[in-house]
Amino acid sequence: MDVQEIKQRFGIIGNSLLLNRAIDIASQVAPTDISVLVTGESGSGKEAFSHIIHQLSARKHGPFIAVNCGAIPEGTIDSELFGHEKGAYTGAVGERKGYFETVNGGTIFLDEIGEMPLGTQARLLRVLESGQFIRVGSSKVEKTNVRVIAATNVDVYDAVKAGKFREDLYYRLNTVPLRIPPLRDRKEDVYLLFRKFASDFTAKYRTPPIQLDEGAQQVLMNYSWPGNVRQLRNLAEQLAVLERDRTITAETLMNYIPAEAGRSNLPMRVENQSREDFSERDILYKVLFDMKRDMVELKKLVADIIEHGGAGGNYTGNPQLVSQLYHHDMELPGHTETQFTIQQPVVNTSKVNEPIITSHTEEVEESLSLVDKESDLIRKALKKHKGKRKLAAHELGISERTLYRKIKELNL
Ligand SMILES: Nc1ncnc2c1ncn2[C@@H]1O[C@H](COP(=O)(O)OP(=O)(O)OP(=O)(O)O)[C@@H](O)[C@H]1O
Ligand SMILES: [Mg+2]
Repeated sequence: MDVQEIKQRFGIIGNSLLLNRAIDIASQVAPTDISVLVTGESGSGKEAFSHIIHQLSARKHGPFIAVNCGAIPEGTIDSELFGHEKGAYTGAVGERKGYFETVNGGTIFLDEIGEMPLGTQARLLRVLESGQFIRVGSSKVEKTNVRVIAATNVDVYDAVKAGKFREDLYYRLNTVPLRIPPLRDRKEDVYLLFRKFASDFTAKYRTPPIQLDEGAQQVLMNYSWPGNVRQLRNLAEQLAVLERDRTITAETLMNYIPAEAGRSNLPMRVENQSREDFSERDILYKVLFDMKRDMVELKKLVADIIEHGGAGGNYTGNPQLVSQLYHHDMELPGHTETQFTIQQPVVNTSKVNEPIITSHTEEVEESLSLVDKESDLIRKALKKHKGKRKLAAHELGISERTLYRKIKELNL
């Protein structure tokens, strides 16, 4: 099957050299059982390529499963992938088969491989080298025959250098690297993709056809597409559904493309905008870090007072510490609702003996506002990205797994 046929069969749009080359590599590696490491930015088509590889392989009638390593909590990933025995850990009521067992004879797509914990990496290496694995809590070696396609949108070699990713596993997975080019490196594909998506969505929603005028086409071409094909697809969907005027102008388009984006063809404004975004987030982080640091200091102060007061019974307080405690207001610029003051009763130096425990408790309660702030931010990020954890995590500057853990922890 040649490249054009593959595109037709899998609905892959584009005719750039880089895209055609990637399809060619995928089709060549597909019939072998070699592991493939697919790299590329978010939304560039990594998962789409993993389907192509599976479908063009001898395993096409076998199962295919996609697992996002970044979204599975560290404590359960081994069991999800390799299964567990009854009682392997608290809560393991029954035994469970892992994906490497259920996908026997098929292909497993391990997305965000760079997020895989080191312990799991060791298990993965073993299964890749010998087809052997052991369920969590078992000692029996099992066999499986699974082809692995891994994907990442970050440079896994950076993780290798940082000691977070096994070098041997990296080379084992990376036997055939498959790089999916970002959309901005295949500008000639942008308009083709847009036309296809627009016509698909107008058909789907039974809305009149849309077209882009010259200026709008230029905007589309010059934009950097950080969200790649997925972002372009979403844009086409929005326009197909929402836009009254069916000939889209550059101006209209700018309303749909995120701020920094639409301005990428106006270099001056891009810079300003991205700097603004960046510094706003910076300030927010700084505020959080400062609050955290202040909390730590406060805890130390209180502990200090408790220690002295509790032991001696007549501690009247280090005047400097106590005054710091009393007057430790924290101001967040423009966020008066989060400002708080340590209340008088926190340390009552005249009755050192009895209120000390209470004062400590109150101290701890105060720190909840940090937690509140955190849940607030997480909620906002999730809302902004319509519940998409990946995007929310990216915006918050934490990993998807950390976000997942926090959602659980904070009961969001
Ligand atoms: N060349 C293409 N032609 C048509 N559709 C495409 C093309 N590339 C990607 N897509 C579509 O774009 C969307 C995003 O692709 P995909 O999910 O494969 O991206 P990804 O690289 O896995 O992203 P992420 O890193 O965010 O998981 C999918 O709907 C996919 O079908
Ligand atoms: Mg994906």
